[in-house]
Amino acid sequence: MSLIERIDKSRVPHHIAIIMDGNGRWAKQQGENRVFGHYEGVNSVREVVEAAGEAGIDYITLYAFSTENWNRPKEEVDALMELLVATISLETPKLNAKNVRLRAIGDLSTLPASCRQELQEAMATTETNTGLTLILALSYSSKWEIMTAVRQLGEDVLAGKLKPSEIREKDLEKYLCTNEYPDPELMIRTSGEHRISNFLLWQLAYAEFYFTEKLWPEFRKEDLFQAIINFQNRERRFGKTSEQITSS
Ligand code: FPP
Repeated sequence: MSLIERIDKSRVPHHIAIIMDGNGRWAKQQGENRVFGHYEGVNSVREVVEAAGEAGIDYITLYAFSTENWNRPKEEVDALMELLVATISLETPKLNAKNVRLRAIGDLSTLPASCRQELQEAMATTETNTGLTLILALSYSSKWEIMTAVRQLGEDVLAGKLKPSEIREKDLEKYLCTNEYPDPELMIRTSGEHRISNFLLWQLAYAEFYFTEKLWPEFRKEDLFQAIINFQNRERRFGKTSEQITSS
């Protein structure tokens, strides 16, 4: 039986979030510079997006560039931005053909104008697609996102719209970049690192974590299927007991 056939399509996670890690180490193993690893990483992105569509996933969020990544050497940051622009421009017709809707989260105002423009165009072109929603986290960090939301809530309190004692989870969630999307149920990180790295701290509260030793350029279609099968073999309790879950 192939891996995709082993997936129970009625119980796939609605939303998968991925920390794509290990491009630099993979490139080093090949005796190449770090940027070579990012280029190969794009092939993994393409396969994983295809695989997510085939498995019937509704949303996939990819951590493509963190707020902290701005501190990398200028040549690497410039190369990553160029790669993003080139990839978005090249892949948008394919995303459209596969009914994928492209979205982005993060402080997009900090991206170079060319990148912002390419992104806006691609998002507009794919806006009415009804299949998988591919969300790119760009210049994103969770603490930035939560801080921004808290400031907006503070403004609401100042304007008398609500009292501090009345603030509920959904009042804060309204101001998160992910407001329109369900929380990820599965978070995957490649390259053997077991960290969350400022990624969707609020939204991953109940997510299952899946770690693999594979470096991102090695993570392909079958690896995503494997992660989904692993997810389906877990028992999700949301703080309840095992007995409460099986009797409900
Ligand atoms: C982490 O590997 C990867 C990144 C910071 C960039 C990810 C970007 C891509 C895969 C390409 C563009 C993506 C899209 C969606 C078009 P690392 O450089 O931290 O690797 P290391 O830990 O081995 O140094």
